[in-house]
Amino acid sequence: MDFVGSHIISVDQFDRGDIDRLFEVADALAPFARRERITRVLQGAILSNMFFEPSTRTRVSFGCAFNLLGGDVRETTEVKSSALAKGESLHDTARVLSGYSDVIVMRHPEEGSVAEFATASRVPVINGGDGANEHPSQALLDLYTVRRELRARGRAIDGFRIAVVGDLRFGRAVHSLLKLLALFDQVTVHLVSPPGLETPDDVVAVLQDGGHAVEVYHDLGAGIHHVDILYVTRTQEERFASPEEADRYRGLFRVNQAIYTENCEPNTVIMHPLPRDSRAQAQELDDDLNTNPNLAIFRQTDNGVVVRMALFAMVLDVVDQVQDHARPVTWYTAKRTPSG
Ligand code: NCD
Repeated sequence: MDFVGSHIISVDQFDRGDIDRLFEVADALAPFARRERITRVLQGAILSNMFFEPSTRTRVSFGCAFNLLGGDVRETTEVKSSALAKGESLHDTARVLSGYSDVIVMRHPEEGSVAEFATASRVPVINGGDGANEHPSQALLDLYTVRRELRARGRAIDGFRIAVVGDLRFGRAVHSLLKLLALFDQVTVHLVSPPGLETPDDVVAVLQDGGHAVEVYHDLGAGIHHVDILYVTRTQEERFASPEEADRYRGLFRVNQAIYTENCEPNTVIMHPLPRDSRAQAQELDDDLNTNPNLAIFRQTDNGVVVRMALFAMVLDVVDQVQDHARPVTWYTAKRTPSG
């Protein structure tokens, strides 16, 4: 695809070459994300960061990514503080905001809403998550993390094995990631969920059509054997009819160090899009994994910044100008050692 000026709505837009190019740009931008150098390449540009659903890391990392390229960020975080609360249509909001900004990131609870918004926008729109449908930038940073973690262990993405655990029905991060994995060769995917929270058929079909091995499990221990990556997700309680319905599933598939040691290979990498549920009896990933060097969840969040910087640089066509606007950082910067 041509990234320049494009909306980024779904991972369906990408082929493998697109991913390789994006990750090359992300690698080149890493010194800027690590605060070794700064660049003002997007000085004067404005991002409208519109989050109509709760968000910490997606919202803040998109904002930081834009700031790190020198641009300014305008943020709206609630429907009730925007004119959508007065009955304004997505169409009109898009027409208005695209007059104020150079690019828009939007998260919204309804499936398809960001695509609808984009049709009325005069500037590129990036999907920050639309209901249970898709979360393309999360899938890109997840894949970037998978690639880095596997490389660090002497492996490639082609032929790798992943177990995806938890709420596979409503988890949009999982839906986008699984579709993206289908672009690679001979991936083995274990889909591990409680009965009732299985992956939608259309997502499974993308993997099967790509010739990948897909195995469905309802038993946690069995499902996480013989994999390189263990990707755990939260019960998406906001997508259930009631909190009581979500409670039926909460805490069913909890991974802790003992379960990991018993079932996983010694080097299995643990990932999670976060947030993880910290409530007692609910934790999908127990705190006792925090000292496990294979816990990659905070390396994963760090990667979110650099991948989102790459998206902005490509969509706004400044990849070749980044270095022209660069200089060393002059303030105190904390040492950024790889974290767990
Ligand atoms: C995910 C999301 O919002 O879909 N979080 C995120 O963006 N990192 C996953 C989740 O909320 O469970």
